[in-house]
Parts: sequence; C-alpha cells; structure tokens
Amino acid sequence: MAGHPVHITMVKKRLASGDACDKCVQAEQLLRGRGLWHRIDEVMWADERDPDSDGMRLSARYGVRLAPFFVVTNGAAEPSIYKSTLRLMRECMPGGSPRPPAPPSDGELAEAAATLANGTPQDALTWVLRRHGRDCALAFSGAEDVVLIDMAVRTGLDFSVLCLDTGRLHPETYAFVERVRKHYGVEIELMSPDASKLQVFVRKKGLFSFLEDGHKECCGIRKVEPLRRALSRYGAWVTGQRRDQSPATRAEVPILQEDDAFEGRGGGKLVKCNPLSAWTADQTWAYIRSHDVPYNALHEQGFRSIGCQPCTRPVHPGQHEREGRWWWEAETQKECGLHSGD
Ligand code: ADX
Ligand code: SF4
Repeated sequence: MAGHPVHITMVKKRLASGDACDKCVQAEQLLRGRGLWHRIDEVMWADERDPDSDGMRLSARYGVRLAPFFVVTNGAAEPSIYKSTLRLMRECMPGGSPRPPAPPSDGELAEAAATLANGTPQDALTWVLRRHGRDCALAFSGAEDVVLIDMAVRTGLDFSVLCLDTGRLHPETYAFVERVRKHYGVEIELMSPDASKLQVFVRKKGLFSFLEDGHKECCGIRKVEPLRRALSRYGAWVTGQRRDQSPATRAEVPILQEDDAFEGRGGGKLVKCNPLSAWTADQTWAYIRSHDVPYNALHEQGFRSIGCQPCTRPVHPGQHEREGRWWWEAETQKECGLHSGD
C-alpha cells in the first residue's frame, strides 16, 4: 500500500469458549515483539457467540472468514483488507521499533502525581501507558492485576506484562495465568529465579526454611531478584497494590511515584504506578464481576490475598485478607520486598 495508512483496525476472534483464537494471540505477540503494536489504532472482537459484535459485522461486510484480519484506511474510498500480519507489517508499517521514551523529569512526575491523586485508576493507567507504552510493565499475579490488564486493553494503548514465576505457585494460579493470557491475547513474560542461586539456597536450607527463619531470603531469590532483572529493561511498572490490602505496610501507597527500591533500563529512573491504591477490595471485585474479568479459582475456596502455595492460606469471613499470608510472622513483616520503596 502506498503512503502511510491513516487507521488500522485489527479484527480478533473470540471463540465460543470465551478465549481469543490462537492465531490472533500469535499475531498480537508478533506485533508487540517487533515494537509495532502501537500502530494498531483499534481492536474489534468478532465474538462467535454474538453475530452482532463489531468484528463479526466487519467479517460479514468484507467477506472474510479467517481471523485475525486488518482493515486499513488511508483516505481512499475503500479500505484495504490484510489477512497476513507479515504482509501488513511489510506494506503498512515502515520503520522498526520506536526508541523507548526518555524518563519523566522530577517536575513532570510530581505534577502528574498531584493531578492523578484525585483521579480514577483509568486516568493513572492511561497517563503511564501514554507516557511509556510497551516500556511499561504491568506486574501480574492476582485479581487486582487482571483488573488493570482489562483496563489497559480497553485504553487501546501499548503495554507489557510480567509475572514472577517463583516455582511455588498453586496449580490454580498457573491455570489462571494461562487463562488470562488466552482471554486477553496478551504476551506474559514469566520471570524465573536464577537457577544457580536457587540451587545453592535450596541445597543449604531446604525447601521450607521460611517457616524457621522468615521469608525474606526465599522471597529475595524467588521474587525480588527476578523482578530486579525484569525491571532493568523497563522505564515504568504498574502494580495492583491497594492501601487497604495491608494497614501495617501499605497505608501510604501513592498512585504514582519514582521507585527508589529498583532501577529502570540502564540503571535509570523507574516510574511506579499503583492505579488501584485508593480502591477497596469491594470496588475491585465489583469491577471484576461487572466486566467479566477472569479470576483465580482459589478465590472460590476462601483465599483472598494469594501468593506462593506454602505461604498462603484461606481466611475466614471477618479476617483481614493479609492474615492469609505468612501467618507465622508479624503484620509489619508481611512484605516480600517487591514494594519496599513505598
Ligand atoms: S506481595 O509482595 O505481598 O507478594 P501482593 O501479593 O500483595 O504482593 O501483590 C501486590 C502487587 O505486587 C500485585 O498486584 C502485583 O502487581 C505485584 N506482584 C506480587 N506478586 C507478583 C508476582 N508473582 N508476579 C508479578 N507481580 C507480582
Ligand atoms: Fe518463598 Fe514463600 Fe516468598 Fe514464595 S512467598 S518466595 S515460597 S518465602
């Protein structure tokens, strides 16, 4: 296609099961991997269960039975239809990956933090994704984080997702990670602990040392080091922290801050955004229910705050959610080091 396209719509298929079709997931991963996802202006779902969905109507209008496909308009009367992602990239997306944006100055960050403090989670998320795009990683493991992925998908902006696979998560959590990947068609970067550090640690102290001398050492190897490694490739990250998750440790979590516990790309400034900081558990669950957001099956069994399997247990009604984490330790110790800069 000659000239630069004005507008590209990607039509993705949602299967009767509710999942995105595999080819659509792969096409999105390819575009993200090449740093070209931001060139997709709009995503429309062709929902197999809903012949009236936007994507189904476009399929019927252009007589395309396969997914994904792309509708490209560049001012000409009739749009061009692309069924091949590679051809779309070749013909409509000249130039390669964009350079990562420069970090915001202290002044820009302070001004945005002041403005966003009274706004909605969506305002904060939109600010950080507009500013950083795929240079911003959503840290995902729990219910709050999927709310953020859902909101991020709705902005249509580019973003990345990372998940710390400690090796000790519940089978239900692994199934949940996979469900989220398929449901939203997003790539999830799974970070593993450093194999040699883990081997030395386990050989020396066994598999349950956290019950005897606290969780900091194990969390340091299984969570904090992999997070540090991951964040050293980004300029910003987003967490699902809420102030009411832990009155002893999270009461002051701001919506936007410079992370002073971790460094960003090249040892530079790292922006940390906690869009749900002012939300309650009830608000989070109201969003999950009203937007059909996938959640961990363990929530049906009394689990509220979910971490690694040996360090998490269900709570009774009336107990605080944090009581289900590292229950053998004091409230003020119940942080694993991911958020020590707050
Ligand atoms: S923790 O520090 O006590 O484990 P918590 O489970 O409350 O944290 O989660 C708070 C936020 O930290 C989550 O919303 C998520 O952004 C991030 N987080 C926690 N665990 C992980 C993980 N395994 N992978 C990625 N992000 C995580
Ligand atoms: Fe280890 Fe428990 Fe921390 Fe998981 S939560 S990394 S198992 S101490």
